[in-house]
Amino acid sequence: MSPFQVKDLPYAKNAVEGISEKEMEIHHDKLYVGYVNKRNEIEEALKTTDKSKAHHNYSEFRALKLEETFNADGQILHELYFQTMGPNAGVTKPSEALMKKIEESFGSLENYLEDLKAVALAARGWAVSAYEPTDGKIHNFLADFHSHGGVWGAIPILTVDVYEHAFFMDYGSDKKSYLEAWAKVINWDEVSKNFDKVTK
Ligand SMILES: [Fe+2]
Repeated sequence: MSPFQVKDLPYAKNAVEGISEKEMEIHHDKLYVGYVNKRNEIEEALKTTDKSKAHHNYSEFRALKLEETFNADGQILHELYFQTMGPNAGVTKPSEALMKKIEESFGSLENYLEDLKAVALAARGWAVSAYEPTDGKIHNFLADFHSHGGVWGAIPILTVDVYEHAFFMDYGSDKKSYLEAWAKVINWDEVSKNFDKVTK
């Protein structure tokens, strides 16, 4: 079985006011499903690609990893999009807790929606409203394509800096040796702590 499954629409294709059945059908059944299928195809290809040829200018592995992110984000953003709209136009409202956070972040629901729509107007791909744990507020982020700006919803537990400033002084252009050295100094206690936080 493929690792990633298509999520059915949680309502009929003609149920959302303002969005036609035809539009919903193409968007969900063709475009969204295409991201899930391609992500599965890439997962399969990654099992046999030659990692010893990994290179930042070009390698098959790099191309697959780039498109993995693109298609994963295409899947995730669309699922959230379809999930967070529905047939009950004007009936639902933010919970007490969400409203409190929106007011804390934007002053009012009206300001929040004004900002979200402005971001959407300024974006070439997505406006993404997200809870940002750094300041504990809600932010509306702009993404010009799915994989611009990160994997939405993923909380990082470990990073490695591969900008040249991180290794050039010590290793010259020998990025591989830098990564070998770096792997030996990972603080797994800290990584484990981060992982615990994410999964609790
Ligand atoms: Fe889309």
